[in-house]
Amino acid sequence: MSRLTLVLLAAAAAGVAWFLNRRRSDAQTSTTTTSPRPAVTPTPITKKESSMRALYVPAAGEQPKLADLPTPTPTEGTVLIRVKAAGLNPIDNGVAMGMLAQWGLPHEYPVVLGRDAAGVVEAVGAGVDHVAVGDEVLGHVLLAPPISAGTLAELAVLPAAAVTKKPAGLDFTKAAALPLAGAGAVQTIEAIDAQAGQTVLVNGASGGVGSFVVQLLAARGVKVVATGKASDAARLRELGASQVVDFTAGPVVEQVRAAFPNGVDALINLHGMDPAGVPIGAVRQGGKVSSLAAMPDEETLRAAGVTGTPVMARPTREVIAPLADRAAAGDLKVVVSEVLPLDRAAEGLGRLATGGASGKLVVTLGN
Ligand SMILES: NC(=O)c1ccc[n+]([C@@H]2O[C@H](COP(=O)([O-])OP(=O)(O)OC[C@H]3O[C@@H](n4cnc5c(N)ncnc54)[C@H](OP(=O)(O)O)[C@@H]3O)[C@@H](O)[C@H]2O)c1
Repeated sequence: MSRLTLVLLAAAAAGVAWFLNRRRSDAQTSTTTTSPRPAVTPTPITKKESSMRALYVPAAGEQPKLADLPTPTPTEGTVLIRVKAAGLNPIDNGVAMGMLAQWGLPHEYPVVLGRDAAGVVEAVGAGVDHVAVGDEVLGHVLLAPPISAGTLAELAVLPAAAVTKKPAGLDFTKAAALPLAGAGAVQTIEAIDAQAGQTVLVNGASGGVGSFVVQLLAARGVKVVATGKASDAARLRELGASQVVDFTAGPVVEQVRAAFPNGVDALINLHGMDPAGVPIGAVRQGGKVSSLAAMPDEETLRAAGVTGTPVMARPTREVIAPLADRAAAGDLKVVVSEVLPLDRAAEGLGRLATGGASGKLVVTLGN
């Protein structure tokens, strides 16, 4: 497994720690009021042409803050967009708690949070000719060092390789929810080479990536067994799951084996940091496993008679453009569970870290 893959797999756990620390410090300081305090207190700003509002980590060891930063300038091969909406992902929590150094990823402060976005092109750098000023686009800030740019800002610089035109039939909010989760879905499905007629268990199906995986598998004629709480069951069935396994009702492996005594053909794992918690025991001998989260080691996979592929999602424009077209055509549902303004973005990150988001959370900017 590559170092960067390991880094990304650590992001979910990191996010939980950051949010829990924030909750503890909020609890300690909220004695004068009973109303919930926003996780990040917006700094009053006077907007200037040369500055933009952004949620960012100012320096090593500091908490994220919402304040003014200088407007970024596009360089060769990049696109400057006015952000209309930014989708949240678990990795944003890891970056928020300052994990980039711990992960050994080169970065430069201030580090702006957020990686997915949809917006309008303000300027393009040299060598960019597939989008132009004024185009409506969606895209992703790929994890290329030194990491500094992010999308939870009024303006964001994205690599042109991960920017594509937004179809007119797809709104900014849904477009911003697509890139990382959509690419993760496509690439975990490719990794197991899912075929029509097969049965695939999707563990973590109720989340942002899972909502896409379930639909894309079902559209291929795959029988989908999805994990999710009872409150997510109807939604998962609507997205195409044939069966829903409640992971709070007992071990997933036992529940799946009760329904499929010979095991399912493959597993896509979208939950957890503990390799021992990945339900590979539900997969038949000779079956396949792919994961965006934890993955057992080679020896454990071999002993279970399965093969495994850890996946690092790469939302390049070749991957996200067809997903955007399908979403605009109504062939792919983008499940946005909540839309928040920028000054509540940290609250959204907290919701992702503690669970129960039931789809994608998106921050919109009145830009
Ligand atoms: N490597 C990469 O490139 C990459 C890219 C994207 C995502 N990821 C990782 O992939 C995972 C999924 O991402 P996401 O955006 O879909 O996150 P998400 O929206 O937080 O989804 C995770 C889902 O797992 C569910 N879950 C919680 N406990 C579970 C359990 N014991 N068994 C089964 N499911 C459980 C959660 O349900 P509740 O909310 O109801 O608790 C949630 O719906 C995350 O770990 C993320 O860090 C990696």
